[in-house]
Amino acid sequence: MIKKYMYGSPVNTGAVIENIELSEDPMQYLNEIIDKDGNYLFTYLMNDDDIVYGLGEANRGLNKRGYIYENNCTDVPDQTEDKRSFYGAHNFIVLSGMISVGIFVDCGAKVTFDIGYTAYNMLKIIPSSPDFTVYIIEGRSAYDIVKQFRGLIGRSYIAPRWAFGYQQSRWSYENEDEVRQVVKNHRENNIPLDAVYLDIDYMEGYKDFTVSEERFPDFPQFVQEMRDEGIRLIPIIDAGVKIENGYELYEEGRQYQFFCKKTDGTDFVASVWPGRTHFPDFLNSNARMWFGSKYKKLTDAGIEGFWNDMNEPAMFNTPEGINEAVETQKSFDFSTNDSGKFFELGGMVTGLANREKDYQSFFHNMDGKIVRHDQVHNLYGYNMTRAASEAFDHISPDKRMLLFSRASYIGMHRYGGIWTGDNQSWWSHLLLNIKMMPSLNMCGFLYSGADLGGFGCNCTRDLLLRWLAFGIFTPLMRNHSAKGTRRQECYNLGETEEFKNILSIRYSLIPYLYSEYMKACLNDDMFFKPLSFEYPADDFARNIEDQLMVGESIMIAPVYEQNARGRYVYLPEDMLLVIFKSSSQRRFQQLKKGLHYIPAALDEVPLFIRKNKMLPLCRTSECTDKMDTSMFEIIAYTSENIEFEMYEDDGVSKNYDDPKNMVHFAIRELDGQLGAVSDKTIVKLSLF
Ligand code: GLC
Repeated sequence: MIKKYMYGSPVNTGAVIENIELSEDPMQYLNEIIDKDGNYLFTYLMNDDDIVYGLGEANRGLNKRGYIYENNCTDVPDQTEDKRSFYGAHNFIVLSGMISVGIFVDCGAKVTFDIGYTAYNMLKIIPSSPDFTVYIIEGRSAYDIVKQFRGLIGRSYIAPRWAFGYQQSRWSYENEDEVRQVVKNHRENNIPLDAVYLDIDYMEGYKDFTVSEERFPDFPQFVQEMRDEGIRLIPIIDAGVKIENGYELYEEGRQYQFFCKKTDGTDFVASVWPGRTHFPDFLNSNARMWFGSKYKKLTDAGIEGFWNDMNEPAMFNTPEGINEAVETQKSFDFSTNDSGKFFELGGMVTGLANREKDYQSFFHNMDGKIVRHDQVHNLYGYNMTRAASEAFDHISPDKRMLLFSRASYIGMHRYGGIWTGDNQSWWSHLLLNIKMMPSLNMCGFLYSGADLGGFGCNCTRDLLLRWLAFGIFTPLMRNHSAKGTRRQECYNLGETEEFKNILSIRYSLIPYLYSEYMKACLNDDMFFKPLSFEYPADDFARNIEDQLMVGESIMIAPVYEQNARGRYVYLPEDMLLVIFKSSSQRRFQQLKKGLHYIPAALDEVPLFIRKNKMLPLCRTSECTDKMDTSMFEIIAYTSENIEFEMYEDDGVSKNYDDPKNMVHFAIRELDGQLGAVSDKTIVKLSLF
């Protein structure tokens, strides 16, 4: 049951696809308050043991209680525990306790969720704009509410299957030879690999849709050379367009009036990687079509995937901000040693980036309606990605493209995936990654992942091993790191054997992971679930945040602490423990419901198969192009007849509803004994 309430005159964010009538009933659950300035806020008194799920890409735990979140897309490379805003803004929460209710605040401006920060039991939702829509969702359980919400916002973006392969990135692999070397090092060490990323240095002067002729002299030819190796190249596209006379994108954007404008009608200017840039007005449908069409320059060269970046939009500074800082500095009397003033001056300089005042100084033309940027800030990156996705519908109508973004808002989940931005090589960020995945799924972002190994800071061998041991379960599995940090490709952190083994597990799991991901996309369901969604009656499982259900058959419990040689794991039912050392080396142990200490050496990946479930595995391969899915090995934990339907298609076309895409596996009693039956060849059955 979904009820809709509208305040002011909100713009159409496109987040919701179902047509829902405005409710005539008074709003239940939330108290509506109008403060002394005439602004709306909503409150709810939580019970002590209510859990609050949701918020997608946000700080802290799976249960969002106890902190305050300001949903406002922000370039936040330093994701410490105190941060309130991340790159995405996902305004959906589910209260789960005596009553279960879902709340979605559809608003392009900042929305604050104070979830017991000011007062422990008080939930406060504070939209920063008078124009927004609230959806209240009633359901049987938190999981049921999430599924209803997902129906409301529409089918999630579907990535090609090759995007489940391992992907290597670095800011930047600067030229052909460096990329070749990365591929060679992986292949020579038998470390599987499907994609290499091109960060900003592939471009000519950081200009979107250009390729440096000096560093990539024959780009289409090079893209083909890599494809022959089973490698896709994935270039970055930034939001800001370099101001440079003669540069096509700049000239056209100015001519067609497609850049965001200031009050005086001139194009807004901010500095990002290329230096001074203009921001395309992605909220204008013609500008979106124009920008989207430019991706063809790269798809014509054979490119099959992109990552959209800096689209919060991130700004290093604006001319206005710099002028203010310079003026303040001029009036500062350095001889007085006034420390208060001194810090104010310092703050002005560090505060030049992403200034609220700048976001309030430019405008969008939303197909005739002029809207100040801060009122629709969270829709910007979303619409950049929508521009690309809508263009791909024409450029590549039959073949899926890989596409993901840094900034996002609910609604964008239909157009692309996300990566979670600039994290750090910290153990705490591995844990953050684990806890965030189910929250992202609740908000529709299924093709997602973090920079494995951490983007900033120096990664260590043990951290990368543990992070990859979790990363082999995330749909987007990409190792990415920043300029100036220690090289963290698998072959740069000592012996490669263990890395190769961990990645071999990923490649034998791809048919299962892809199947469960596709089923989640096609049925508005989740790929990563909290334990409480599967075992709602289990009070102990309710509070577990560092173990996740992955698809229908397995549970994972990643190790995320330095020097840990195992960890405690709670089993909500009897399960089969499988400790993988590589795709083919594994140990099994049947475990009873309850708490267990599970040893896991640095090169081991434990996973748990649920009672009466099975896990199909294929042979590992060096890239998805070479995957053989005609033969499977089955690990099953059952003494009964069971079935598993695996989704399988060619991985690129869009014929999702073809019944031939369902492959059947069954464990059945045959001649008084349980055996495996399937449309596929079963090479081995390990039955427990
Ligand atoms: C931003 C991105 C990062 C990228 C860098 C250079 O920080 O988040 O992934 O490597 O810009 O383009």
